[in-house]
Amino acid sequence: MSVNKEIKRVTTHTLQKMKETGERISMLTAYDFSFGRILDEAGIDIILVGDSASNVMAGHETTLPITLDQMIYHAQSVVRGIRRCLVVVDLPFGSYQGNSKEALASAIRIMKETGAHAIKMEGGEEVVEGIRRIISAGVPVMGHLGLTPQSIYQFGTYQVRAKEEAEAEKLRRDALLLQEAGCFAIVLEKIPASLAASVSKSLHIPTIGIGAGGACDGQVLVMHDMLGINHEFKPRFLRQYLNLYETVGNAIREYISDVKSGDFPNEKEQY
Ligand code: KIV
Repeated sequence: MSVNKEIKRVTTHTLQKMKETGERISMLTAYDFSFGRILDEAGIDIILVGDSASNVMAGHETTLPITLDQMIYHAQSVVRGIRRCLVVVDLPFGSYQGNSKEALASAIRIMKETGAHAIKMEGGEEVVEGIRRIISAGVPVMGHLGLTPQSIYQFGTYQVRAKEEAEAEKLRRDALLLQEAGCFAIVLEKIPASLAASVSKSLHIPTIGIGAGGACDGQVLVMHDMLGINHEFKPRFLRQYLNLYETVGNAIREYISDVKSGDFPNEKEQY
């Protein structure tokens, strides 16, 4: 993408400054060109091309089935729509857990083939070797701790994580480890607000929360959830800003009725 001097792009340095000045970071997911453009022009700081595409775009029950090629396709589409925000892409399940060489190869494919600016990886100590190798190749990495959906079959449920002290303690250690490894930010998903607050305070890099309370340095939501496209998903942490399921459904019903009645197209809508 060409560098446009008039547009002040969001970089990992911008996010670091935001942490230092206390300006909250806004992040949402997107998976295609059209929504990428809407989010970017609305002023979002970060777009996450999340592997939640596996759920909301492809209809899978979990994030596990989505492939690296599919993530690359989504990321390429988003990047074509943005001019300002930072684009972060999830490394999908199975593309980095094996070993650090495989992790680096996956990250390099994302960076080379999509034009995105950073990648995100789930996990702490277990994946830190891969994270170090990717960062030393010059690729910015966002960490992800707490409820990590790629491990759903290990957890067994999507309930709040780290309520017990042993898991909370591991999360605190992992957060410091990811910071030391060079991550530029960490997503904290579905953990007690008090734990997220103390982790955010202990780190010099920003935390981005989802279901982790108001003391994180930023917030992220899955776009389909906050727009009410995915209308059946209503966890306590979600604020739904629209009911697009209903709005779009009503528009479709009106269109069907207009076609059936012959009202569409009218004289002005033809050549
Ligand atoms: O894939 C995703 O959408 C995510 C967010 C929930 C943080 O990882």
